[in-house]
Amino acid sequence: MDQPLIGCLLALCAITATGYSSKRSPVNLDATPRITVPNNELSDVRQFSANVKNYSTLLLEDDKGILYVGARGAIFSLNSSDISQRSQKDIHWEVTSEEHNECLKKGRNNQTECFNHIRLLQRFNETHLYACGTNAFSPKCCFIDGKTFVLPAQFEEGKEKCPYDPATGYTGLIIDGGLYTATRYEFRSLPDIRRNLYQRTLKTEESPLHWLNDAEFVSSALIPESLNAEVGDDDKIYYFFNERVIEESSSFLDKTQVASVARVCKSDMGGKKILQKKWTSFLKARLVCSMPYYETLKSAYTLELGSWDTAIFYGAFILQWRNMEASAICQYSISDIQKVFDGPYMEYQDSSRKWSRYNGDVPKPRPGSCITDEFRSNGYNSSQDLPNNVLDFVKLHPLMYEKVKPVGEQPILMKKNIIYTRIAVDRVTALDNKQYDVLFIGTGDGWIHKAVVINSGVHIIEEIQVFKERQPVENLVISKKQNSLYVGAPSGVLQIPLSSCDRYTSCYDCVLARNPYCGWDGDACSDVLTSEDRVRMTQDMQSGIGGCLNSTDEGASVTKSRTVLKGDDVLLQCDLKSNLARPKWVVNSSYPLDESDVHFRVGNDGLLIMDTLLEHGGEYSCYSEENGLRAAVALYTLNVLLELPKEKLYSESTPVIQLPTAASLSSNKLEFVYISIITILGGLCVVLSVVLLYVSFQQKRKGKYAMSNSRSTNVELHTVSSNFKDKADDINNYSDGCLQIIPGEAPTMSPSKETPPPPPPPPPLPSEFTNGISTLPNMLRKMNGNSYMLLRQNEEASSPLYNSFTEELSKILEKRKHTVLVDKLDESSV
Ligand SMILES: *[C@@H]1O[C@H](CO)[C@@H](O)[C@H](O)[C@H]1NC(C)=O
Ligand SMILES: *[C@@H]1O[C@H](CO)[C@@H](O)[C@H](O)[C@H]1NC(C)=O
Ligand SMILES: *[C@@H]1O[C@H](CO)[C@@H](O)[C@H](O)[C@H]1NC(C)=O
Ligand SMILES: *[C@@H]1O[C@H](CO)[C@@H](O)[C@H](O)[C@H]1NC(C)=O
Ligand SMILES: *[C@@H]1O[C@H](CO)[C@@H](O)[C@H](O)[C@H]1NC(C)=O
Ligand SMILES: *[C@@H]1O[C@H](CO)[C@@H](O)[C@H](O)[C@H]1NC(C)=O
Ligand SMILES: *[C@@H]1O[C@H](CO)[C@@H](O)[C@H](O)[C@H]1NC(C)=O
Repeated sequence: MDQPLIGCLLALCAITATGYSSKRSPVNLDATPRITVPNNELSDVRQFSANVKNYSTLLLEDDKGILYVGARGAIFSLNSSDISQRSQKDIHWEVTSEEHNECLKKGRNNQTECFNHIRLLQRFNETHLYACGTNAFSPKCCFIDGKTFVLPAQFEEGKEKCPYDPATGYTGLIIDGGLYTATRYEFRSLPDIRRNLYQRTLKTEESPLHWLNDAEFVSSALIPESLNAEVGDDDKIYYFFNERVIEESSSFLDKTQVASVARVCKSDMGGKKILQKKWTSFLKARLVCSMPYYETLKSAYTLELGSWDTAIFYGAFILQWRNMEASAICQYSISDIQKVFDGPYMEYQDSSRKWSRYNGDVPKPRPGSCITDEFRSNGYNSSQDLPNNVLDFVKLHPLMYEKVKPVGEQPILMKKNIIYTRIAVDRVTALDNKQYDVLFIGTGDGWIHKAVVINSGVHIIEEIQVFKERQPVENLVISKKQNSLYVGAPSGVLQIPLSSCDRYTSCYDCVLARNPYCGWDGDACSDVLTSEDRVRMTQDMQSGIGGCLNSTDEGASVTKSRTVLKGDDVLLQCDLKSNLARPKWVVNSSYPLDESDVHFRVGNDGLLIMDTLLEHGGEYSCYSEENGLRAAVALYTLNVLLELPKEKLYSESTPVIQLPTAASLSSNKLEFVYISIITILGGLCVVLSVVLLYVSFQQKRKGKYAMSNSRSTNVELHTVSSNFKDKADDINNYSDGCLQIIPGEAPTMSPSKETPPPPPPPPPLPSEFTNGISTLPNMLRKMNGNSYMLLRQNEEASSPLYNSFTEELSKILEKRKHTVLVDKLDESSV
C-alpha cells in the first residue's frame, strides 16, 4: 500500500474517531490540576526501601495491618499503619549462581532479567501466602507461612503460573484455592489464561483461531455474581488486556493493539470431548475509551461496592496518534459489559477471510454462558454436560460484535503530554451525603494525580510529586482503614495520606479544593470522616464555592511596602497557590488595575510595573480569583522616588546595605570598592556557573520541576532596575533554564522628603550591590509545557554576594515576565 493511501486511511480513521466523539460534549483535553505539590513540599510521607529494586507487587491485608511487598529478590512484610517502621520482616529469595548462569546462557540481559522478580503475592489460606518469582527465566512458586515468614525449603514449578520475563504483562488471583493467571508464560509462547493449583487445570484454546492474539495482560478481577443471584449464576473473572486487532481487515491496523475485556466462569470444568481442559466460558469484547485502535490500556481498577451489579471498572489509557500523546480515563459499568457479552457474536468467514457479525442461529444453551439454574433445569449440571454444537460454537466465536463503550460514551478525563501508568479509586461519602469517586492516578515520571469525579466530569484536586527521581508508578493500593495510599515503584514503596486536608490553609482554599475528604470546621480544613462535628463543617463538592461567607480568612493581613526609583521596574509578588486561580489587582483600594497599560504586566506570580512613573505610587492589592470567589493574597504600598535619598538616611534605614553609593565615595575608596567587587564578581561567576549547570541539567532531566530549596524561606522580590535594560536586550536569546548575568540595582529605603533635583545618572557599579534582597530562588516551575520561574526572596539581605545572586535571577525573572508570563496567564484560564 502506498503512502497517500495510508495517509488517507489515517485521516478517515481520525474522522471516524472524532466523529465518534462529536456527538458528545467535548472533554477538556488538558484538565489542569488545581494545586501542584513538588516533592520538597510533601509532608507526611512514609517510605520503605531496602537494598533491592522493583517494589512492584503489593498485597494489602488491612484486617491484619500488613502490607506485603514483592520486590526483586525479596518479599517484605510491613506494618500498614506505618510502612517505615523498622520492625518489618523480610524474606530474601534470590537466584543461585547456577540459575543466574543458566539465565545468561539463554542470552538474557544480566542487568534486568536474570533475577528473581516477585510477580505474584496472594493469600492462599488462613496461614499461608502463595508467591511466584521469575527466578532468572525459570519461574518458581512457594507457600509462605505468614507467621514465621521464612523462605520454605520446597518450591513448586512456576512454569504454568508465572511469566519468565519480569516485564511482560501479567495478572494473577487466587480464588477458592485455584490460581487464575494470565500472561505470556514462556519466551515466544502464546498468551494464555490459566487455572492451576488445587482446581481442575484449564487453558485457553490455541487453535484454529487464537483466542488471544499477542495479548498483554493488565489486570483481572473477580465479580462474585453467585452472591444473592436469583438465577443461580456463577462468579466470573474478568481480564483486561491489549491484543492485536484481528477483526479489521485494513492493513494499516495490522499490528495495532486494541484494549479488550474477557471473562471466564469460576465453575467452568472444561468440555468432555470438545474443549477438553479448555475454558468453555471464554468470551471477549473490545473496550473503547476515546480513539479506538490508537489507545492502549495501561491499568484497570475494579470498584466494587456491596453488590456485584453496581461494580464499576476504571481504565487508564494512553493515546498515541501521530505526534500527540495523551492519557485518558474511562469508566465502564458491569451491566454495559454484560450486555455486550449477551449480544451478537463475531465470526471469521473462511471464504472472505474477514471477521463480521454472526447472523446465523445461536445454539442453545447460549454459548459462553456460565451454568445457571436454567441450565441445570435443562439437565446441564456443569460445562461437561454441554452439547457438542454449543462447544463447537464457543471455539469459533470468542469475540463479541459490539464494543464496550464507556459510561457517558466518552472519557471522563483526558490529559495531554502525560503518561498514566496506574489507577486506584476510592469511593467517599462527602458532607452532602453523596458518593464521590476519588481517583489516584500514577504517572510515568513519579507523580500522582488526585482527582474527583463530579457528575460526569473530573476535577483534578492536586498533582503530587511523590518520587523525586523520575520513575513510573507501578502499583497503587488504597487503605481506607489507614487513610493511606501505598505507592509501589522501582526505587521503593511510599505511604501517603488519602486526604491531606492540612494542605488547605483557609476556608476558601478548603472549599475550592473540592476534596471530598476535607471540610472547613471554622478553624481548619480537616478530615470529614474523622470529624466529630460534621454539622458545623463546610464543603461544597458540587460547585466548590459556598460556605465561607462568615469565615475570617486573614490571607493578606500585612501590608508590605515597596520603594522604587522613578524609571525602575518593580515586581509586586502575588503567588497564587491554585493553578486555576487568576490574579486580580486593585489599585488604591477601589480601582481595578488597568491591565492594558504598557507599564503593567500581570503574571501568575505577581505584578511587574515597568519604567515606573511618579503617579504609579499608591496601594496595590492582589486577589486570587477562582471559581467566582476572591480572596486577598497580598497588599503593597508603592512609593516612587525621583532620586536616591542621601547616604546617611539610606544606611540608617536599611542596615542591610553594605556597600556605599558612588556619590558618597572618595576616589581612592572607590578603587578599593572596585577591586573588592571584581573579586566578588569572580567568585560569583564560579558559583553561578555551577548553579547554571545544575539548573540546566535538572531542567533537562526532569522536564517538569527543576531546582527547589525549602519553601520556608519567605519571600519577596523587590525592585528590578531598568537602567540595564539595554544590556539585557542584547542577550535576549537564552534558552530555558539558562541563566544570564545581568547587573541590576534597586535600593530599599524610606522615602526622602527633599525636593528632587533632576534624575540622577545611572548609578555607578557599587550601587549595583545595594539591593536589599537575598537568597536564591527556591522554585523553578514548568507548567503545561511553558516554563517560567517563580522567585521568592527575603525582605532582609544577608550578604552582598547573595544580593547579587538574586539580582541576576530577578533580572532573568524580569525578562521572563516580558516574554512568557502574559501568555502564561491566558493559558492558565482553561
Ligand atoms: C503497627 O504499628 C502500630 C503503631 O505503630 C502498632 O500499634 C501495631 O501493633 C503495629 N502492627 C503490627 C502488625 O505490628
Ligand atoms: C553483566 O553486566 C556487566 C555490566 O554491564 C558487565 O560488566 C558484565 O561483564 C556482564 N556479565 C556477563 C556475564 O555478561
Ligand atoms: C494452608 O496451605 C498450606 C500449604 O498447602 C498447608 O501446609 C497449611 O496446612 C494450610 N493451612 C490451613 C489452615 O489449612
Ligand atoms: C444433574 O443433577 C441432577 C440433580 O442433582 C440429577 O438428577 C441429574 O441427573 C443431573 N444431570 C446430569 C446430566 O448429570
Ligand atoms: C526494575 O527497576 C529498574 C530501575 O531501578 C528499572 O530500570 C527496571 O525496568 C525495573 N524492572 C522491572 C521489571 O520493573
Ligand atoms: C453568617 O452570619 C450571619 C449573622 O451572623 C448569619 O445570619 C448567617 O446565617 C451566617 N451565614 C452562614 C453561612 O453561616
Ligand atoms: C493612588 O492614589 C494616590 C493618592 O491619591 C495617587 O497619587 C496615585 O496616583 C494613585 N495611584 C494610582 C496607581 O492610581
